[in-house]
Amino acid sequence: MTELINQPFPVSYNAILEKTQQSGFTMASDLQTCCLLRTLAVSKPSGRFLELGTGTGLSTAWILDGMDSDATLVSIDNDATFLAIAEEKLNADSRLQLVLTDGGEWIENNKHQQFDYIFADTWHGKYLLLEEVLNMLNKGGFYIIDDMLPQPNWPDGHQEKAEKLIAYLESRSDLVLTKQVWATGIIVAVKK
Ligand SMILES: C[S@@+](CC[C@H](N)C(=O)[O-])C[C@H]1O[C@@H](n2cnc3c(N)ncnc32)[C@H](O)[C@@H]1O
Repeated sequence: MTELINQPFPVSYNAILEKTQQSGFTMASDLQTCCLLRTLAVSKPSGRFLELGTGTGLSTAWILDGMDSDATLVSIDNDATFLAIAEEKLNADSRLQLVLTDGGEWIENNKHQQFDYIFADTWHGKYLLLEEVLNMLNKGGFYIIDDMLPQPNWPDGHQEKAEKLIAYLESRSDLVLTKQVWATGIIVAVKK
């Protein structure tokens, strides 16, 4: 077995990747992570999906590719330039709602909402307002984070923050975790 993805990529993937490379966006999720996101998305027919940190829409495209026609995805980011790429390539998909907003503001205004699948790929929902975001997860829902293994762009002190986050997630009796020392370091947690 190899890690090669011998299955079709989302149709919009190459176009988004090209724009991403031209834009200078350097925080995109890697292919392995995107592939896992799609696989897990398939398990939530009619699900309510949330992505915190759209970037240019690379991970968004993979999540959408795994979702069925009745599922919906809200994806938020505070950077208009990068979000415009996602808008251009993905906005025709009526299952998707892209929101240009600050993560903290959006979570505070939407914490009553419940989701079956949350990919937390920005500060909020990971290092900020974690409790609020975990409360938004339905029973049986996925909470997914990447970049949990040391990354070259981590600032001083980030390693300690990551370790604290992992220890906190492990301490919660309502979450069952699998930590994958693979790709950029992935944690998949499911709410009991
Ligand atoms: C790791 S990147 C997301 C990558 C994306 N999921 C992908 O696969 O390409 C993190 C994103 O968080 C966004 N971000 C940073 N601070 C934010 C904030 N306060 N509110 C909302 N988004 C924020 C950045 O603009 C960036 O696009």
